[in-house]
Amino acid sequence: MAEIKKIGTIKVIICDDSKNAAKHGAEIFAEVINKKPDVVLGLATGSTPVELYKELIRMNKEGALSFKRVKSFNLDEYLGLTGDHPQSYRYFMNKNLFDHIDIEKSNTLVPDGTSKKPEVSCKQYEESIKKANGVDLQLLGIGSNGHIAFNEPGSPLTSRTRVVDLKENTINDNARFFSNKSEVPKKAVTMGIGTILEAKKIVLIATGANKKNAVSKSLNGKPDTDIPASFLQNHPDCTFIVDKEASSQL
Ligand code: GLP
Repeated sequence: MAEIKKIGTIKVIICDDSKNAAKHGAEIFAEVINKKPDVVLGLATGSTPVELYKELIRMNKEGALSFKRVKSFNLDEYLGLTGDHPQSYRYFMNKNLFDHIDIEKSNTLVPDGTSKKPEVSCKQYEESIKKANGVDLQLLGIGSNGHIAFNEPGSPLTSRTRVVDLKENTINDNARFFSNKSEVPKKAVTMGIGTILEAKKIVLIATGANKKNAVSKSLNGKPDTDIPASFLQNHPDCTFIVDKEASSQL
């Protein structure tokens, strides 16, 4: 069971737990993909979307969903990590989704973390999104400081794909995936807030008590650069799917 409310422009689906949140998210994805088999997806990494990806894999294996004509653009990548590094987001996407579904790998794009000319490859990433006629459905997680993708507090509304410095608390949050904190890259390549807001439809998933502040500030406060996810209030079709813990301050 889920409770649905509208906070400003944003639809908020409050689920009992993270499993149900993943199910709701996967249903939205399946509906959009089934309606438009050559859909362009924007995909996210982090621990939150893993369950949702498992659901999509299940539907694909059961024959209820096909990714044959789907194209995808990932939000971000650590600077300096090659795609075969176990903590790179390319590796994450292969392991948690692409290796298990019928998507063409050549249709899955992730920003290049090892480009010798990052400004050039960031521009090319933006151009590839444009050439694909933009992202139809964008999945987002949220950082405990309110970041989306790697758009840290202070990121402008108009920002595009670029190289960014990670904040100390993001490095601390993400250190759990590395064998030690000093291995976490200090920089990343990320789609900008302006890039993300151009997606036709956006779904943000947030679960767990450590997201409750970020979720309430994103929805209850005015859009502000201190909480990048609050800029989603400017989007005409954005849904937050949260569990009880993440919604406890709404
Ligand atoms: C990283 C990613 C974000 C993600 C965030 C939250 O910083 N760049 O896209 O939303 O982590 O991750 P988690 O879902 O593990 O809490």
